[in-house]
Amino acid sequence: MTSYIRAVGAYVPQKKLSNDDLSKIVDTSDEWIYSHTGIKYRHIAAPEEATSDLAVAAARLLLDRAGLDAGIIDCIVLSTATGDYHGFPSTACVIQDKLGLDEIPAFDVAAGCTGFIYAVEIARSLMKANDYQNVLVIGAEKLSDVTDWTDRNTCVLFGDGAGAVLLSQADQDDLKGRGVLDSVLHAKGSGNQYLAVPSGGTADKNGENTCLYMDGRAVYNFAVKAMKDTIVELLERNGLTIDDIDYVVPHQANFRIINACAKRLGTDSSKFFLNIDQYANTSAASIPIALNDMVSKGLLKSGMKIITVGFGAGLTYGGNYLIW
Ligand code: ACO
Repeated sequence: MTSYIRAVGAYVPQKKLSNDDLSKIVDTSDEWIYSHTGIKYRHIAAPEEATSDLAVAAARLLLDRAGLDAGIIDCIVLSTATGDYHGFPSTACVIQDKLGLDEIPAFDVAAGCTGFIYAVEIARSLMKANDYQNVLVIGAEKLSDVTDWTDRNTCVLFGDGAGAVLLSQADQDDLKGRGVLDSVLHAKGSGNQYLAVPSGGTADKNGENTCLYMDGRAVYNFAVKAMKDTIVELLERNGLTIDDIDYVVPHQANFRIINACAKRLGTDSSKFFLNIDQYANTSAASIPIALNDMVSKGLLKSGMKIITVGFGAGLTYGGNYLIW
């Protein structure tokens, strides 16, 4: 049996904030933000909208689109860095309740912006070990709640949203080669201080800074190498070259990071799907939102070879290789 992506869905909050809107809050400009990041807009959740609400909206859209009932879901794996609650309960359990489900396992994965990639591999492994038929894998974030809206270095970079995929199992012969075939997962914990919400946890005693902190330059340098190394590792493990890949679906953090990665691989950046202009960096949600956009645009055809690749807080990095 092989796991494959049977359906996708995504949801972003209604409120759309432009670069010009931000330039009224902090000392920045559309020109600076777009030229340094590729971002034009980001969506911001309403105060009463929690991460679980974004995730449930994405999951419902996925189920409606595929004509499936939530009752088929055997397990929920949520990847988030901005859960509904601090520590516990897990947001996946809240999602299970909101979807009207009971008994099935539900848990959160914390791997920063690489979270969705980790969650897909965890789900795939659980499906093999426990014979789950359908696992709902979600990436969802309300980053606006941990954003310092007075810090131009970070507040222009992030947005809220959720994306979901349903991983199902099928016979290899029926899938004709399709499926999630491989993943590589890595972490470089020595860089944990470069991207953090410093306060609120057990390591912090003053509890003052509950907003996101980032050393942008350090993360940038790490990201280009991590993305390139991950893609090369996946290609080598699977006997492929970059020319065999139809699309790379990267974590949408900064189009300059993505372009630099494409350049180091000696390939055209048009192979890398980009939608950062519309959503900014939605952390663990960015790859499933990108997959959803690609499906909506009719870009993904059966048999296409796809690599997802990402990096994030931890510092984590990794990727999945799949045939659509
Ligand atoms: N508007 C105007 N000027 C700004 C802004 C802004 N929004 N932000 C920073 N600047 C200024 C800085 O203050 C600095 O000014 P100074 O020279 O007078 O001090 C100048 O622009 C250049 O700053 P740099 O940090 O060198 O700018 P850089 O070109 O490196 O771009 C950026 C910064 C976009 C953050 C880049 O470093 C980057 O993309 N880093 C990685 C970010 C990332 O990927 N984050 C997410 C990773 S994981 C996750 O997704 C959670």
